[in-house]
Amino acid sequence: MATQTRPAWAPDHVPDELLWDNSLYEFNSELDDPFMAASRLLDGPPMFYARAAGQNMPGWVIARHSLLREAFIDWESFSSDNASAAMLKFALGVDWNLNPVRIDPPMHTEYRKLLIHFFTPKAVGHMEAGVRETCDRLIAPFADKDGCDFVQDFAIPFPSHIFLRLMGMPEDMLRQFFDWEQGLLRSESPEQMVTAGREILEYLKFHLEEQKKKQTTPLMESIINARILDGRPLNDGEMLGMFYTFYTGGLDTVYGTLGWSMRYIATHPEFQQMLRDNPDKMPKAVDELLRMFSVVMTDRMVTKDMTWHGVELKKGDSVNMPIFIAARDPEAYPNPHEADLDRKEAMLAFASGPHLCLGLHLARREIRIALESFLNRFDDIHIPEGAQYTYHAGSTFNVDSLPIAWTRKS
Ligand code: HEM
Repeated sequence: MATQTRPAWAPDHVPDELLWDNSLYEFNSELDDPFMAASRLLDGPPMFYARAAGQNMPGWVIARHSLLREAFIDWESFSSDNASAAMLKFALGVDWNLNPVRIDPPMHTEYRKLLIHFFTPKAVGHMEAGVRETCDRLIAPFADKDGCDFVQDFAIPFPSHIFLRLMGMPEDMLRQFFDWEQGLLRSESPEQMVTAGREILEYLKFHLEEQKKKQTTPLMESIINARILDGRPLNDGEMLGMFYTFYTGGLDTVYGTLGWSMRYIATHPEFQQMLRDNPDKMPKAVDELLRMFSVVMTDRMVTKDMTWHGVELKKGDSVNMPIFIAARDPEAYPNPHEADLDRKEAMLAFASGPHLCLGLHLARREIRIALESFLNRFDDIHIPEGAQYTYHAGSTFNVDSLPIAWTRKS
């Protein structure tokens, strides 16, 4: 029998038929639409081992909705305190984790309890006026023009504004946050990303010291004065981990979803008009857009040797969780590439289990208000002939530039 040499990146316990000698980032970028590109993996095995997945490292990739949902819930087998968490700690030069997103229960539950009140539908209701005002302010410079770059002019700066409000940071930091955001998300080199990441951290440290003297929002007040476990206050690492999570958690996720949603709206005139004519359908439409354009891939680490759905996993294996593949699984969502407002199946865009996105009500509200602000102001939103849209498909899928044009309402 001829013996074939196994590639160096393939661990011994992974059978040949589950090895995928490809890069997920490159594969997802092969077509005009990364969601369609990624959905080709639904024709293969439910789980496979890629040469290059998240952070271009080898690891398992889960390629079915039902398995992904199960892995999200089973935190005892799939830990969030994993290699990605370690890489970030190394890049930032810190000894704490993103909090609560990279912390497993039971400590995770302690931290989440402190934060949950600020992200309930009621709490988010109180933020609505501020979100609307932010939209108006961002749209004002091009409101009397015939178009804009939706992503550059609106979708990217929008979540930074919301973050500043949430954190009680001064408005004049906006430009700086915008530049850091660009550095973190769009730098050519890892060194530039690390520099941006560390500069953000320095500012968050400064903000923490200021907030210790005088808190400027209820969220800050709650974090600074919190008591956990036996009544001790949070230490600086625990608080900075929370600040950093709010920054990264609500940034490229919101702008990513907005970019793809607007592209869909601008290329589906009937859907667009249906939304204008039926404002009551907007919440359902936002959920369906979030489902179709589930932009996140996160990851976990296997905590023990086990056989999972017939696949042998070893303690320490990295498991990539691309929600963008699960979102187009026809077993979970019939006609997965179509927006269907009558769909009953729950979406997974915000994950599931203990780490279910804490900001999901805020994100829904931001997206609804942003889309309404455009639909109510402008008719016939479309992509001008010959205009190019660009995107990148990393661990989140983001539109980088989306020129749109419209007819101004009289
Ligand atoms: C469309 C927008 C958004 C999407 C698609 C999204 C998606 C997600 C996903 C998939 C997770 C789970 C990550 C994991 O388990 O590894 C998560 C967690 C989280 N998100 Fe979001 N997110 C969005 C917006 C926001 C916003 C606006 C905030 C608020 C600042 C936020 C705050 C958080 C936090 C704090 C966690 C950690 C929850 C925990 O560990 O218990 N997210 N998000």
